[in-house]
Amino acid sequence: MAAAVTGGVQHFLPGAVGPEAVRFLVAMRPAVLLWLLLPGLAALEPLSVGLAIGVASALTGYLSHPSFYCSYVECCPSAGHRLNATALREQLDGRLFGQHLAKEVVLRAVTGFSNNPSPKKPLTLSLHGWAGTGKNFLSQLLARHVHPAGLRSKFVHLFLATLHFPHPQRVPMYQEQLQSWIRGNVSACAHSVFIFDEMDKMHQGLIDAIKPFLDYYEQVDGVSYRNAIFIFLSNAGGDLINKAALDFWTSGKRREDIQLKDLEPMLSVGVFNNKNSGLWHSSLIDRNLIDYFVPLLPLEHKHVKMCVRAEMLARGHEVDEQIVQAVADEMTYFPKEARIYSDKGCKTVQAKLDIHEDIAGAMD
Ligand SMILES: Nc1ncnc2c1ncn2[C@@H]1O[C@H](COP(=O)(O)OP(=O)(O)O)[C@@H](O)[C@H]1O
Ligand SMILES: *[C@@H]1O[C@H](CO)[C@@H](O)[C@H](O)[C@H]1NC(C)=O
Ligand SMILES: *[C@@H]1O[C@H](CO)[C@@H](O)[C@H](O)[C@H]1NC(C)=O
Repeated sequence: MAAAVTGGVQHFLPGAVGPEAVRFLVAMRPAVLLWLLLPGLAALEPLSVGLAIGVASALTGYLSHPSFYCSYVECCPSAGHRLNATALREQLDGRLFGQHLAKEVVLRAVTGFSNNPSPKKPLTLSLHGWAGTGKNFLSQLLARHVHPAGLRSKFVHLFLATLHFPHPQRVPMYQEQLQSWIRGNVSACAHSVFIFDEMDKMHQGLIDAIKPFLDYYEQVDGVSYRNAIFIFLSNAGGDLINKAALDFWTSGKRREDIQLKDLEPMLSVGVFNNKNSGLWHSSLIDRNLIDYFVPLLPLEHKHVKMCVRAEMLARGHEVDEQIVQAVADEMTYFPKEARIYSDKGCKTVQAKLDIHEDIAGAMD
């Protein structure tokens, strides 16, 4: 997590002038500022008063200029905002390991969406895969491309089914709450990003509640949702993706040669027609409200090692191959005999690394 959320907000300077102060100054009319700046106004000659008025207006003008204002206070991207697909590709190439399919689909989705000046619906992505394969990580990388502060941005919203909507008997209340949040957030920023984790644990009623926002409407109650991005994460279909990957491996083919079309038939039977997984059972799919299905492959030993190295570098340490090997070896792998794929992907890498670094630190 620590590695995933670094970067982005360094330019929101803390200290001297906080965002609140800037927001306050900009909200003030020049006259008020003038009144603050020059307490003894009445005593001054007309020339100084004129000068002071000029200075005060110039100052408010400067403070409210986007390039200044937005370096202190996070701003929503303007209407013509485009995502930089080249930069996103670089990030994905360098930081997302072992997921050539997900990379390809996400880049295609983002390029299409940002090249379209008037999208007909919000961008909706559904990420599927085993635990720890990078679903949250990838959504955060993507979110950070729209809002540099990532999860800390006030325009990026993460919902966890089991944390935010735990009680089935409260679904009617959650529905109302969620709808008013989405409405409020998109009114405040058309480019809002919503990430729904644990989608398979979401109550059917809640999925129905967000459906209107995902649809091809020009506006819903006067708000347009067409520039927003919705990302759904779930383990649904993860077992089938794993099986497909394993079949590839067993038949001696390269992981990188797995293509989308190799997964689609299994996913469409196993996920979309599985009545137990909330999302699929709903009309999201019937109505074609999901634009892209993004499969994440199970991670191998070598990918776990890449995660350990990345985490060491993120902590500002040098890569110690001995620790890399030790951490990767400690993970559990499946299938039992062949031990090819990590049970938890890269999920427990950070905790395991903490332990190893403590030991290494104690021996120094
Ligand atoms: N494919 C990957 N490439 C790089 N790092 C990864 C990858 N998968 C997982 N990680 C690392 O493991 C952590 C946990 O992964 P996460 O995205 O939360 O998994 P999940 O698929 O369960 O959402 C991430 O924060 C990231 O540091
Ligand atoms: C997009 O990102 C690339 C690589 O980070 C950069 O070189 C390029 O100038 C960016 N393009 C725009 C339009 O910002
Ligand atoms: C935006 O969403 C958050 C939840 O992520 C919620 O707390 C907040 O009240 C929403 N804002 C508006 C204006 O509705």
